[in-house]
Amino acid sequence: MTTASAPGKIILFGEHAVVYGRPALALPVTQVHAEAEILASNSTGIWIHAPGIHLHADLNSLPSDHPIAAVIHNFLFISRVSPFPNLEIKITSSIPVASGLGSGAAVTVALVRALSSFLVHPMTDEEVNAFAYDIEKLHHGTPSGIDNTVVTYAKPVYFVKATSFRAERSDSEVEAGEGNIIETFKPAAPFTIVIGDTGIPAPTKESVADVRRLWEADKARWEGVFDQVGEIAKEARTRIEIGDWRLLGDLMNQNHALLQEMTVSSPELDRLVDAARKAGAVGAKLSGGGRGGNMIALIQPENADEVSSALKSAGAKGTIVTQVI
Ligand code: MEV
Repeated sequence: MTTASAPGKIILFGEHAVVYGRPALALPVTQVHAEAEILASNSTGIWIHAPGIHLHADLNSLPSDHPIAAVIHNFLFISRVSPFPNLEIKITSSIPVASGLGSGAAVTVALVRALSSFLVHPMTDEEVNAFAYDIEKLHHGTPSGIDNTVVTYAKPVYFVKATSFRAERSDSEVEAGEGNIIETFKPAAPFTIVIGDTGIPAPTKESVADVRRLWEADKARWEGVFDQVGEIAKEARTRIEIGDWRLLGDLMNQNHALLQEMTVSSPELDRLVDAARKAGAVGAKLSGGGRGGNMIALIQPENADEVSSALKSAGAKGTIVTQVI
């Protein structure tokens, strides 16, 4: 038997602008995770059990673009495993689906790690990340790659997608992830974030496509907005590395305002962001694709209970307090 797991994630700064080559920061959320378990089996075929989504099926009975089937087919194809082995695969996840916490990327990463360790040899993080990016592209259109990267490395990451480099060559000529800047960074001291879940499922693909439509209609305007977001993300990394939490909170508020301008906030997200600020958070913003999903607030650890209850009173379906170290 082989098991592997991967954490959830949040985007700290720079969502959406990161798709257009601006820097962004993301953090792993280790309180939630996806896990894959692989066992040799006496029954014929590859049987998948994902009780959380009520899935108990033979691989061959699933459409090839089913998120879990796609991971298994792609892995068997690239690793040239033949004949197909008889397997039982169990997938569990405590990461809420379509909430901006990276549940899809975490399932992909956990599953491909478990498959490669069980059937061939463990893949390196770089291989896992490139594989997970290809799967993200199948489901999310034009993702930046930051979600699979932070979930794979399970460390705070500073990420810049290599768009100008890509623009010169077709996607098929460019290795997945080639030319991206991926740097891990370390806070000067631990800091605390509260994550508030609107409970509204919000597929990232849709908000990313809407921002693309805005950008296509007025590139000059949105390039300017993305530049501002990119500067905020760069400055935020410096503030984290020197431990200037007050300014970091201001930067979160500024980033939220720019996300509102991009039309990816929502009344529910704005309500949670306001409630967190009123309850004493140093700063707050939506996190991830927006429209629904999660927001995050930077807090003093002693305010965790107060901010969490304020978020719940303002409609949050759940909160997670996470310390970034
Ligand atoms: C989603 O977690 C982050 C977005 O910037 C999309 C992406 O980077 O692929 C909204």
